[in-house]
Amino acid sequence: MRLFCAVLIAAALIGCGGKKVEPVSYAAKIQPILNTRCIACHGGDRVEGKIVLTSYDAMMASRILPGKKPLVIPGDYMKSWLFILSSTSQAHYRMPPDTSGQGLLPKDEVALIAEWITQGALNN
Ligand code: HEC
Repeated sequence: MRLFCAVLIAAALIGCGGKKVEPVSYAAKIQPILNTRCIACHGGDRVEGKIVLTSYDAMMASRILPGKKPLVIPGDYMKSWLFILSSTSQAHYRMPPDTSGQGLLPKDEVALIAEWITQGALNN
């Protein structure tokens, strides 16, 4: 249900209004989210699941096992694990993990991730 809601919000932000959406900057908007929410466990000293989220290049080079799927598929946030894991209602898979006590990513941050991927996941 939460994933569904996140998708609705993202859709509302991205598509429905018909007005031009501002470009989402990776450096200004996305990396700060990862810095706050993710790199404690996916950074320099601690690298869970071989996922490194300290830079654009490291994130794009990280792969989900098994299958070695990329975290981000430019233009398709519904298939991008960065978005899926940050927004899913399935506590078992969700990032950050429930056990971290950090709680869910705020909806506006999830929407930014979706929008950035939709715009091509640029290193901008
Ligand atoms: C408190 C620590 C912690 C935080 C914070 C955290 N993760 Fe993770 N993450 C983990 C652990 C532990 C695993 C390994 C899970 C496993 O291998 O089953 C993991 C695995 C992953 C994977 C690989 C999943 C797979 O199936 O291979 C991705 C992608 C990921 N995290 C993304 C993120 C993102 C994006 C954030 C921030 C929104 C985040 N993580 C925040 C601990 C964390």
